[in-house]
Amino acid sequence: MINANDLRRKFADYWSSKKLGHREIPPAPLVLKEDPTTLFTSSGMQQLVPNLTGSPHPLGKRLYNIQPCFRATDIDEVGDNRHTCFFEMMGNWSLGDYFKEEQIPWMWDFFVKELELSKSKLYISVFSGTKEVPKDLESELIWKKLGISDDHIFFYDATKNWWSRSGPPEKMPDGEIGGPDAEVFYEFTDVPHDKKFGENCHPNCDCGRFLEIGNSVFIQYQKNNGKIIEMEQKNVDYGGGFERILSAINDQPDMFKTELFIDIVKEIEENTSKKYTDPLSIQAIRIIADHLKVAVFLIIEGIVPSNKEHGYILRRYLRRAAVKMHQLTGGLTPSFDQILDRGVLRVYDGIQGIDRHKQRSLIFQVVNREMERFSESLDRGLKHFTKLSDNQMEAEAFNLFASYGFPFEITAELAKQRGVMINKITFDEMYKTHQKLSRKVSSGMFKGGLADHSEQVIRYHTATHLLHQSLRDVLGDEVRQEGSNITGERLRFDFSLSRKPSDEEIKKVEEIINQKIKEALPARFEIMPKEKADQIGALSFFKEKYGDKVKVYFIGGSSDNPGLSYSKEFCGGPHIANTSEIGPIKITKIKKIGANLIRIYLIQHPTSTPDVEF
Ligand code: ALA
Repeated sequence: MINANDLRRKFADYWSSKKLGHREIPPAPLVLKEDPTTLFTSSGMQQLVPNLTGSPHPLGKRLYNIQPCFRATDIDEVGDNRHTCFFEMMGNWSLGDYFKEEQIPWMWDFFVKELELSKSKLYISVFSGTKEVPKDLESELIWKKLGISDDHIFFYDATKNWWSRSGPPEKMPDGEIGGPDAEVFYEFTDVPHDKKFGENCHPNCDCGRFLEIGNSVFIQYQKNNGKIIEMEQKNVDYGGGFERILSAINDQPDMFKTELFIDIVKEIEENTSKKYTDPLSIQAIRIIADHLKVAVFLIIEGIVPSNKEHGYILRRYLRRAAVKMHQLTGGLTPSFDQILDRGVLRVYDGIQGIDRHKQRSLIFQVVNREMERFSESLDRGLKHFTKLSDNQMEAEAFNLFASYGFPFEITAELAKQRGVMINKITFDEMYKTHQKLSRKVSSGMFKGGLADHSEQVIRYHTATHLLHQSLRDVLGDEVRQEGSNITGERLRFDFSLSRKPSDEEIKKVEEIINQKIKEALPARFEIMPKEKADQIGALSFFKEKYGDKVKVYFIGGSSDNPGLSYSKEFCGGPHIANTSEIGPIKITKIKKIGANLIRIYLIQHPTSTPDVEF
């Protein structure tokens, strides 16, 4: 039986043979940093767009490679037996050289002669035409000459048999290239047709009996002023899913039971004590397997979880994997190390940029850090979610994001599991309000403010809320914040008070803050009507004008149980997630700066006693 390494070798040998004369091109990075149109490589042809439109390629007109691809848009389809967001695409290209006459028989020979797939199990699909582009009778004729019978050739419209990076012709922006394609499908004859997907089965039916294993796109069209026009250069862009072709070779309809997935599935089973054969676990196991593979391939290209662009996508995949793990284990947090190491790194060691021993610790570190960060709020977030009634879910999706770090998609999925479909519009509106408020802070509209958004400054910012509340606890409600200024070195805070605080009082304030840090209180915000914020006693600035909706930061507690909060304040953020991230603090200086106005300085890891200037 041909294994994964044989398949890699056979593919390379075939296209680079003397007869076919292709040169191998290095795979493009998976993560695209300079491309304004897209964040990731999702197809082998992406790096060749300039060459498909006329610019010569240094390696010639016949090229091939195996390209790692990431399609975040397929995330909702992961969970069945054949869809993944990460996959490898086997590609060959003719840059204005050979065309259909050569490509179709060559692709066919690779499947039936090199891989020895049974002809009777292979089906073909061809483009049925649009008003602008004729039916692809040429390709049909070539297939027929190869001996494919009529009952194995199917015609489909542009939704199935046209390929461009943006989909069918009407979706292509000006300048985009694409064309009709000829696809090859493998039939798993043991899989019965499921009528849920239609009366009759056919290659593009979604029931799982047929699997698309190869796609030759004839890139000969370009969108120009809203019209599809023929290009001078006629190209071939072939892509075949590596993992899918392995499924076909093994006559195994479930891709997750093939060589490139079997270990990760086993490791997930071991670490969750759930079986892949269990219908209640299978979908989650597939999602975890795919998402962790995605994570590994993004991390080796330097991505770390964040709230922006590539980093946010990685965060979403890791958090979704965490939610699924949580569901499988009932809340125990197993280690991901073994799954990542034996399930992904060992399987790909030496392939597609993976170096198991060199990269292992970095991958563990990045994944564990994100999982730890998320795990505490995950538990609480899931608990919070279970308490929501069906019609609260949509409005609460933003709070789940803001307070517990749940990306919208995760909440939508949890809601769906309870049979409720939620709309993103409310979430997006609240997100916009949140951003506006945050911008207000970073543009310095609050008095004092943050020097930057470094981790240290953010820690001090959360410490400011603790300081404000503890000053009020010790010195009374006369204390109001009059301003603050935070740098990476220290926090400075001005407040109103008509007398000099005693040394004992300052010591007490310091003790309370350190106590609250020790208690590891979560810090999170909610966006709420101003009225409600006032009602629950959130501190605000006298001088600030607020809109109808405000953002309130809670340290401990929430609007549902404000009594549990140590501090509640109107604030744009940002803050750390938990006070334990601050570490011990010390008040270093206290100074009278005006009538009834006191300035206080606080730092982390201090050794000195406070300077008092009165
Ligand atoms: N570019 C084509 C695809 O991605 C081959 O399917």
